[in-house]
Amino acid sequence: MTDVALETRTALPDALRVLLAEYPREGWTVDPGFDELIKFWLDRHLMFRRLMERMETGTEALIDRKVDERAFAQELSRYGGMFVNGLHEHHMIEDAHYFPRLVKKDARIERAFDILDADHKALDGHLNAFAEGANATLRQVGDRDLLQDEAGRFQGNLSTMARFLDRHLTDEEEIIVPVILKFGSSELR
Ligand SMILES: [Fe+2]
Ligand SMILES: [Fe+2]
Repeated sequence: MTDVALETRTALPDALRVLLAEYPREGWTVDPGFDELIKFWLDRHLMFRRLMERMETGTEALIDRKVDERAFAQELSRYGGMFVNGLHEHHMIEDAHYFPRLVKKDARIERAFDILDADHKALDGHLNAFAEGANATLRQVGDRDLLQDEAGRFQGNLSTMARFLDRHLTDEEEIIVPVILKFGSSELR
């Protein structure tokens, strides 16, 4: 059996990639069904990825002593807050609004929604660990040596979070976008 846990899978099972085969990623933006709703939703994913990258770059710069600790702290609290709150809100909308409507569209990929739902629950736990790591780091501002140590640990939280988030976003896009391209987005508005 294919391992579908967020932490260990490397892709969605082939059986759940049937719609993706009909609507490969390269063709999405030129598909006549590629509308504002899909674009907006993909832009949210891009924003989460960019926030992760900014926090990774900022933390690396701090560890390399290339950035002032106050500037680092300001940026981390801003981006970290946007990331945690934004992702919670995004998951709530998907759980309440997108998934229940889209799951009924094509029985062949129904099980994919269980996987995405389980991802959200798993990501909640990882998001808590991320927030704890960020807060532990921010608490050391004012003591550069302690800050360096804590930032080193936080770098581990960040790369774990980035890996799991990327897995979820990629797989979710490859399920959701083909369904919307095939069946339209009118029910999601
Ligand atoms: Fe999601
Ligand atoms: Fe999403």
